[in-house]
Amino acid sequence: MLIDNHGRTVNYLRIAVTDRCNLRCFYCMPAEGIDYVPKKHLLSYEEMLRLVRILATMGISKVRITGGEPFVRKGIMDFILKLSQVEGIEQINLTTNGILTAPFIPQLLEMGIHSVNLSLDSLDKERFFKITRRDELHKVLDTLHLLVKNKVKTKINCVVMDGQNMEDILPMVNLAKEHDISVRFLEEMPFNGTGLRLQDFKWNFKNILAHIKQEFPNIYKIEDAPNSTSLNYKIEGFQGSIGLIPSFSRTFCGTCNRLRLTPQGMIKTCLYDDGVFNVKDLMRANLTNDELQTHILKAIGSRAKNGFEAEKNRKNQKGVSESMSTIGG
Ligand code: 5AD
Ligand code: SF4
Repeated sequence: MLIDNHGRTVNYLRIAVTDRCNLRCFYCMPAEGIDYVPKKHLLSYEEMLRLVRILATMGISKVRITGGEPFVRKGIMDFILKLSQVEGIEQINLTTNGILTAPFIPQLLEMGIHSVNLSLDSLDKERFFKITRRDELHKVLDTLHLLVKNKVKTKINCVVMDGQNMEDILPMVNLAKEHDISVRFLEEMPFNGTGLRLQDFKWNFKNILAHIKQEFPNIYKIEDAPNSTSLNYKIEGFQGSIGLIPSFSRTFCGTCNRLRLTPQGMIKTCLYDDGVFNVKDLMRANLTNDELQTHILKAIGSRAKNGFEAEKNRKNQKGVSESMSTIGG
């Protein structure tokens, strides 16, 4: 088992397979996009698999594939298949924006994918366009319907933005009425490629809950899964559930079980740190698996206590300025 310097068991790896994306959500990227990492600086699938094999022997049993948008990277399905065959990996989850996802759902089911997180911030065509700068809501909704139809464990991630999608909050909540899905609301974080927060931090998780409560006074708390980043709720008569993710308030760090791998091969032990070491550089310098393990153990043994400490310890003191798609959502 991997246990960090604060006694937390680390069993979960989030792999951002690409920094590229086919949307331009304004809270994640500037309109013109970001400077994508040149291909040769991206980890290859083989390198990712090598790392996963090493980590699986050390206690990592859960993996999430994220990005950028995973389905814009060629060969992703073959990679997921190989990942599902790594001994010790018991659970594979996927985060996607749903634009290219629908045709792959049957195959993903065959591979035993555990759950899919769908990023969706508006159910309204115009607001969706304003947020993502692309007119493709219909594709995301097709994906959502197909996930539900196929009974895939599905969570919706909706970033709450003042003046952008407040009208969507209640319709989003209502999605959990008819469907057994989890609709989760996230606080906006400053990972938009500019280093600036794009709105006043008005909608923290408490205010989001209060807003939902006005319409659904009978919303009640349910038990959260261990290591959950969301506070979960039910509404009488609803099939699904509602979640609040304090992504900026960072109240969940005490049970954090995650490691992150960026598309460039950086190992991060917190979303808010700026990388501990680059595993791609070490692999390309011909380090052995044992030597890589030593680096991993050192990183796990010196984790920041929480996201605030990680942010304070950044080598780049200018603060958080990366795009979420370079870090891995
Ligand atoms: N703030 C909050 N959430 C963000 N995401 C991407 N950028 C941000 C941000 N700046 C979300 C995406 C996706 C999840 C992985 O992270 O909407 O659902
Ligand atoms: Fe793409 Fe997700 Fe960033 Fe939107 S938030 S631009 S879907 S990576």
